[in-house]
Amino acid sequence: MKGIIFTEFVELVETTFGYGVANALLEGCDLPSGGAYTTVGTYDHEEILSLVGRLQKLTGTPAPDLLEAYGKYLFPKLAEQMTAMSLKFDGALDLLCSLESIIHKEVLKLYPDAELPSFNIKKINAKEILMEYRSCRPFAHLAKGLIDGCGDYYQQTLSVSMKHLNTDTEFSTLITVRQS
Ligand code: HEM
Repeated sequence: MKGIIFTEFVELVETTFGYGVANALLEGCDLPSGGAYTTVGTYDHEEILSLVGRLQKLTGTPAPDLLEAYGKYLFPKLAEQMTAMSLKFDGALDLLCSLESIIHKEVLKLYPDAELPSFNIKKINAKEILMEYRSCRPFAHLAKGLIDGCGDYYQQTLSVSMKHLNTDTEFSTLITVRQS
């Protein structure tokens, strides 16, 4: 997984829980990388899961809530990259409808080794879409947080609900997004 996902996570922990918790987190995880993340590096996605699991123990906040809070924090940072790629959208739903066909496609051109989920996106009507998240990594709650962050970014109110359909071989979640 790309370094930005790790550096921003550590930054979120530092700003939300303080440097003491961030240090305890990195020291207590026994990470293969040693935890000295850089934006240009690539690390095993299992490290984020270890960090989230340990942060849950340190703070008492459930792991899915931590992943959602992280997604919300991460979105504006990813949006900067999007602007650098000259991608522009009319609002949250417009962006979400282009996530698979444009945004993550451009990400893959830039970083051919990026580990991305697949999204099958259906427009129900002008105010509602259905996103089917599929991945071999368990990051549906990160996706929910990113969608929440996308709503904040465009100052639009979104209600997001999830239904997990995980199988033995794949993580799969139906995400409904309604704009009000
Ligand atoms: C609301 C919009 C978005 C959603 C729901 C979303 C969803 C996700 C999820 C869930 C992952 C984790 C990988 C997995 O689940 O298998 C991911 C990874 C990633 N996404 Fe997106 N994404 C969004 C927007 C963006 C934007 C705007 C960018 C930048 C232009 C971006 C770039 C990336 C990158 C660089 C990764 C990491 C790939 C890797 O580490 O190898 N995403 N995305």
